[in-house]
Amino acid sequence: MLIKNGIIVTEDGRFEGGLRIRDGKITAVGTELEPEGEEEVLDAEGAYILPGGVDVHTHIDMPAGECMTSDDYLTGTRAAVMGGTTTVMDFPEYDEGETLMDGLNCWRKKSEGRAYCDYGFHMTVSGWDEGMKEQLVRMKEQGITSFKAYTAYQDGIGVYDEQLFGILQEMKELDTLLCVHCENGDVLRRLQRQLREENASDIRNHPKSRPNLTEKEAVSRVIDFAAMADVPVYIVHVSTKEAAEVIRQAKQRGQRVYAETCPQYLLLDESLYDLPGFESAKYVLSPPLRTKADQEALWKALADGTIDAVSTDHCSFRFHGQKDLGKEDFTRIPNGTPGIETRMELMLEYGSRRGIPLEKLVSLLCTEPARLFGLHPVKGTIRAGGDADLVIVRGDAPHRISAGTLCQDVDYTPFEGFEVTYQIQDVFVKGIQAKRKGEWVMEKPEGRFLFCR
Ligand code: URP
Ligand code: ZN
Ligand code: ZN
Repeated sequence: MLIKNGIIVTEDGRFEGGLRIRDGKITAVGTELEPEGEEEVLDAEGAYILPGGVDVHTHIDMPAGECMTSDDYLTGTRAAVMGGTTTVMDFPEYDEGETLMDGLNCWRKKSEGRAYCDYGFHMTVSGWDEGMKEQLVRMKEQGITSFKAYTAYQDGIGVYDEQLFGILQEMKELDTLLCVHCENGDVLRRLQRQLREENASDIRNHPKSRPNLTEKEAVSRVIDFAAMADVPVYIVHVSTKEAAEVIRQAKQRGQRVYAETCPQYLLLDESLYDLPGFESAKYVLSPPLRTKADQEALWKALADGTIDAVSTDHCSFRFHGQKDLGKEDFTRIPNGTPGIETRMELMLEYGSRRGIPLEKLVSLLCTEPARLFGLHPVKGTIRAGGDADLVIVRGDAPHRISAGTLCQDVDYTPFEGFEVTYQIQDVFVKGIQAKRKGEWVMEKPEGRFLFCR
C-alpha cells in the first residue's frame, strides 16, 4: 500500500510526501513515491501522517482493592488504537507470596491473543529481599527491561526506602530502568486517617491528604537514591510545579532523570473536587489534580525538556458500580481515570494551542517514550525499516470529546466536552488498517508482546 500526499511529521521535522507499507513494515518514505502496479493507494491530502502513539503508562485488567479496572486487553487496546496509540506498556503485578514470574505469566495470559496493538511490560516490584535478584534476572531474560516501584501504599504494593534502594542497586547490575510512583506514603496515610475521621464522605479530602509536597519530597528522595545507586530513573505521572522543579535541577546537574506527565495534570485542575454530589469521584486519582499554577509549570516543563513523555496512566473504573464503592469513605473510591483513547487528540490540540510544535508533540507522545524503553526505532517514528504503526490525523475537524463516542469500556471521560480540531481518521497497526475514516475496521487482535532489549 502507498499512502501519499500527506504531511509526514517526525521529531526531526515535517515534509509533504508519502510512504509505502509492505508486510507490516514501512519500506520507503519520500516526496515522490508513485504507486507500483496495482498497489492500493490512500490519498492523505491535507492530513498529517504521524507515527503511532506510544503510551508507556497503562493499567489494563488490573485488580485494585475491591474491583478490577473496567478495561481488559480487548477493550483497552482497541480504545488505544481508536485514539491513535499503537503501542502500550502496562504494569503486571503479583500477589503476596507469588514471584515476579507468576505476575508476568498472569499478564501474558490476560493479553495473549487479546490485544489490538503491540504491548510491553514494566514489571512491578512490590517488595525486596536478596532472593529477588535472581527473579529480576529471570525477568530480563523474558524481555522485561523496565520495572516499577511505588513509594506509597507500603501496606500493599509499595516499598520502603531500604527496599527501594536495593531495587535501584539491582537496576545498575542489570542495566534496566526503574519507573517510580512518587508520593510520601507515610504522610499521606496519616493525613488520610485524620481526614477520614473528620468527614469520610468528603471527596475533597482526597487531594487534601496528598498535598504537593508529598510528591515533591518523594521525587527528590528517589532522585537522590538514583544518584547514590548511579542509575537512571523514570518518574511517572508528575503533577506538581515543585516536583517539576526538582527534576529540572537534577537534569541541569547532569543526572539521568526522565519524567512523564499525563493529559489530566495538564488540562484538569483541583476545582473538579468541588462538583455537586458524588461527581468529583470521577477525578479521584493519585496523585490528585492540582492547581492552575501547577498546570502552567507542567506545560513549561514539557516545552523546555524537563518532562520527556506524556502518557495516560489509563486506569478505568466505572462511575456507576465501581467509583461508588467509596460513597461513604473517600479512601475506598478506586483511584484512577481513563485516558488511553483521548491522549493523542487532546495533546495535539492543546499542545498546539500552547505553541508547542507538532514535531515536539510527536517526540513526547511517540518517539521519546519508545526510545526510553528500548522500542525505538522500530516503534515511535516513521522510517524505512520501522513497523508500519501510523496515524493519519486531520487538523481541521472540530468536534467535542464525549464518553458517548468513545469505545473505552467506562461510563465517563474526565475530558467530557473538551473541544478539539485534531481528529484521528485512519490508524495502521503493523501495516493492518485498524481505523478507516473514523470507523473501526480491524478484524482480530493481532498485537504481540514486545520483548524489550
Ligand atoms: O490513581 C492512579 N493513578 N491509579 C493508577 C495506579 C497508579 O498509581 O499509577
Ligand atoms: Zn502511580
Ligand atoms: Zn499508574
